[in-house]
Amino acid sequence: MINRIKSLFALVLIWLAGVVAAQQQTLQSLAPFKVGCAINPDLLAKNPSYQSVVTEEFNSITSENVLKFGAVHPQKEVYDFAKGDFLVAYAQMHHKRIHGHCLAWHQSVPKWLSEFEGDSAAWENLLRSHIRTVLTHYKGKMEAWDVVNEAFFDNGTYRQDSVNAPHRYITFWRNHLGEDYIARAFEYAHEADPNALLFYNDYGQESNPAKLKAILAMVTDFKRRGIPIHGLGLQMHIGINTKDSGIAEAIKQVAATGLLVHISELDIKVNQKKDTAIIYTDSLKALQCRKFAFVVEQYKKLVPKKQQYGITFWNVGDGDSWIVKWEKIKDWPLLFDVNYRKKACYSYFYDALKE
Ligand code: G3I
Repeated sequence: MINRIKSLFALVLIWLAGVVAAQQQTLQSLAPFKVGCAINPDLLAKNPSYQSVVTEEFNSITSENVLKFGAVHPQKEVYDFAKGDFLVAYAQMHHKRIHGHCLAWHQSVPKWLSEFEGDSAAWENLLRSHIRTVLTHYKGKMEAWDVVNEAFFDNGTYRQDSVNAPHRYITFWRNHLGEDYIARAFEYAHEADPNALLFYNDYGQESNPAKLKAILAMVTDFKRRGIPIHGLGLQMHIGINTKDSGIAEAIKQVAATGLLVHISELDIKVNQKKDTAIIYTDSLKALQCRKFAFVVEQYKKLVPKKQQYGITFWNVGDGDSWIVKWEKIKDWPLLFDVNYRKKACYSYFYDALKE
């Protein structure tokens, strides 16, 4: 009860921030498509600066971690939707699109699942009932889902780890169900919420042509078999040295499928060599800013308007980025600094949206 009151109180504060901010020129007011960010609901509830940036600047949000398997389904018989529900309530209050991430992945695996023993029918039932339960809970509220995340290795083969791998990284779906679990996951999602847009999401497609090719081949196969897939997510965790040609080629080829195209997890590393003494110099900033602008320009140029699902940043301020927070790398990968002030790259991104 106390937690519910706290959540309601946080939502009222956030609503007030939104009212104050409504008239300013922001990314969302300018963009011809949705511009979003991945959200940590704890920060959204507790940090007023985080709240105002999200509320003012973005019109789409993605659940960064709270709807991953390990978070939403921590025990076999227990689902925990509290934080996901908070994000949905926030999104509804502010008329923001909400994108669910993600249903089947080899990470964020709860211990009970990694220890589960059963035949392939039992595993199939787990996959299906997880997808059905989560999508039914959010039916009519969540516009889209990343159904399967990162199912391919960079060389284009289906990811398959040893069954003895640490439990966070077991590709158990593939191990127990074969590679066609991907198609079935899309079918289960479509059965549960026929109106939800369903995405396949992966990283490194701009640097690994074999992976890109494998994903496109999967889409061709899905279309032939009538498997319901509506969009592709190019995560776009890139760095200042990522080749422009690779970025453009990936966007172009993904757009050629005719599906929705989501730049789904954008961030740009400055410190690709993980140098602990690195300084964020003006010349590094300039390279990074140009790269941000390049991604927008190519997205606008190469993706037909009706396929422009949008561009989503992977969290908000530099200090919240998985690169800094969890990988512990000294870096500045986003448009806002650790205090949620706009960085120089904000203007580059903004101008590229505008032009
Ligand atoms: O919640 C626990 C906390 O209770 C504990 O004290 C703490 C100590 O380690 O860990 C916390 O969990 C962390 C979790 O984020 C919570 O937010 C995990 O350690 C940490 O590994 C986890 O990292 C997330 C990672 O996916 C793995 O799930 C990142 O925040 C998240 O940004 C990252 O996102 C992925 C996308 O889903 C898929 N594409 C790549 C992207 C970046 O890796």
